[in-house]
Amino acid sequence: MVKSFYIFTMGCQMNEYDSDYLAQSFMNAGALPAEGPDDAELVIVNTCSVREKPEQKAMSQLGRIIRIKNKHPDMIIGAVGCVAQDRGPELLQRFPGLDFVMGPRELKRAVEVVEDIEKSSARTVATDLAGLCRPPLVHPGYFSGRVSGYVSIMEGCNNFCSYCIVPFVRGREVSRPAVDIEAETHSLASQGVREVTLLGQNVNSYRFMEEEKPVTLSSLLKRIGKINEIWRIRFTTSHPRDLTDDLVECFKTVHKLCPHIHLPFQTGSNRILKLMGRGYTREYYLERVEALRTARPDIAITADVMVGFPGESEEDYKMTMDIVEEVEFDGLYSFMYSDRRGTAAEKLAGKLDRETKAARLKTLQTIQKEISHRKNKALEGTVQQVLVEGAGDRPDQQRGRTATNKVVNFRCKDNRIGELVDITITHGLMNSLRGCLNE
Ligand code: SAH
Ligand code: SF4
Ligand code: F3S
Repeated sequence: MVKSFYIFTMGCQMNEYDSDYLAQSFMNAGALPAEGPDDAELVIVNTCSVREKPEQKAMSQLGRIIRIKNKHPDMIIGAVGCVAQDRGPELLQRFPGLDFVMGPRELKRAVEVVEDIEKSSARTVATDLAGLCRPPLVHPGYFSGRVSGYVSIMEGCNNFCSYCIVPFVRGREVSRPAVDIEAETHSLASQGVREVTLLGQNVNSYRFMEEEKPVTLSSLLKRIGKINEIWRIRFTTSHPRDLTDDLVECFKTVHKLCPHIHLPFQTGSNRILKLMGRGYTREYYLERVEALRTARPDIAITADVMVGFPGESEEDYKMTMDIVEEVEFDGLYSFMYSDRRGTAAEKLAGKLDRETKAARLKTLQTIQKEISHRKNKALEGTVQQVLVEGAGDRPDQQRGRTATNKVVNFRCKDNRIGELVDITITHGLMNSLRGCLNE
């Protein structure tokens, strides 16, 4: 087995989780993490293909690593993740120094594949999507020093929103056994993790049969809530269609569940929602937001939205802007539509030019910045409970997050990492808060 490895991670939290899984697999096989790619015998790029930009980023990163290999010819290089799944053998052709390509459902074979390459130098493509979820894997102490962690509860997506590549690269939905999720959460807690985020591409549709009874996300949240050393629970990403009353109720009843939800709406136009195949209307989305705010008045709501879906008219775009202004999100991840190979939207007529998409995105982002700033300013003078995660922006600062998932930097002499502290907010900035520790 190689003695050292380095992993570049792009994309969503699921990729971060997968990279941690890979790192633990290699460490269990005797390798150690390297400081950087130049010092590593094995370098892995964990890629994202959700939009054009991250895919290009993955390609240029692979190109850079291949150039390092020119100086270190024995280096083993792997491309994993969603671009790897989508492009498969094409990547081996494009990058002559690349040794293996491996999709997300094959990662449990990573050690075996690397060992085979060491023996035979045979280039490998592993992109089977049929594999079930991975069993829990622990490298004792791997997470020590981390305050928050991820646990995947389901993989894949069955929705096939017309623009989205995720169902093609992550496969169909498979929920993990609740006992595995509990075991993994216990393991994180024993290493010092105090906040856990349950992950899934479509987390609300979690469903696992246990002794002929279904465990749902709501019941899972209650079970995770019983783990003493875990103080905060989050879950992501939610699909509005599957946000049941039962789950909304959890924001009232599961006291460790943080008052924050990421609830992508994508567009405010019912016509475009239909073309996207999202399975809800703008009225339904707004009703769910109301239900959440009724259940938990202090809940922070963030979302994903895209502009420039094929055929999006000025009128459709205006409906999106109306939602942005009406809901007043705490934060928005906004994107320009880009064609993804093999999706239904790729074949639609009415593609918009780049300038129109860019202009729409810019206006949306300007308005959202004002809203985020205004909402953060409104917190000035309030006391927020912050879970301290690490060093802050400046040397004398530490940084943590509020229950509503806002980043707070505050001045503090002693190390409070891993503690819940009360902070009086002094400055509400655009993307974060600044405050003083209440001693
Ligand atoms: N599972 C999550 C989304 C994962 S992808 C969900 O259903 O909400 C993250 C975000 O990328 C999406 O919410 C969407 O806003 C954006 N996205 C996905 N495909 C895209 C495309 N082809 N062009 C632009 N944005 C896209
Ligand atoms: Fe993509 Fe839709 Fe599945 Fe989200 S729900 S991952 S946007 S197909
Ligand atoms: Fe990207 Fe794959 Fe996540 S496409 S967003 S890394 S599921």
